[in-house]
Amino acid sequence: MGHPLTVQVFPDPAAVSEAAAAQVVAQARAAIAERGRFTLGLAGGRTPRALYQLLAGAYRDQIDWTRVHLFWGDERYVPHDHALSNFRMVRESLLEQVPVPAGQVNPMPTGSGDPAADARAYEALLAAAFGPGVPVLDLVLLGMGPDGHTASLFPGTPAAAERERLVTAVEALIEPPVRLSLTLPVLTQARSVLFLVTGADKRPVWDEIRADVAGVATVYPAAAVALEGQNVIWYVDEALQ
Ligand code: 6PG
Repeated sequence: MGHPLTVQVFPDPAAVSEAAAAQVVAQARAAIAERGRFTLGLAGGRTPRALYQLLAGAYRDQIDWTRVHLFWGDERYVPHDHALSNFRMVRESLLEQVPVPAGQVNPMPTGSGDPAADARAYEALLAAAFGPGVPVLDLVLLGMGPDGHTASLFPGTPAAAERERLVTAVEALIEPPVRLSLTLPVLTQARSVLFLVTGADKRPVWDEIRADVAGVATVYPAAAVALEGQNVIWYVDEALQ
């Protein structure tokens, strides 16, 4: 009990993606109406690809893409054309179909050979886009791994405990091990967070989070976002029920 979670359960991953597309459209339209732009943090991994394809397809004309500014919640430290690159996944599923001005597409840099330096560079980019302090993105899309990681904040790592920096280099235990990630201060300050979580392998951690999110917030970074974040919504499929 305690802190309530906002959860919607859908029959399958396709229904999760449809609902997520409608949610992104609604938030984009509201943000553009209120503030003239929509700042969106993108998730990597496999789950959001179908969402991005819907936004590039059936929902394409429902968003004024010239007002959209894209950021990445995390990135694998590989070249942007690498098969494991989160930027490449978004480029292929979304960017090639929608007219976001190139200057508003802000992937995390992975080219200097020094992940910490590239993390600093992305902090500078955020400062330029949002001003000093912790940036407030309109919406951050997130996934969750079966171990409770989100973005590239993995349980028990210094990156997951980081409360000062906005962007950090990460040593992960899964492939690829070197990554960059937004930190909890940024993820929890966003105006809204939408988690997309599907598949039975995530159910054990999900059961712990929904049973007592405050109790596991120091264990699982996804739970920390759920506890401390603003307007956090979970779209999950039946496999997690
Ligand atoms: C990444 C991610 C990561 C992802 C989860 C869930 O770059 O790996 O952004 O946090 O969201 O690992 O991934 P799936 O959606 O593929 O299960």
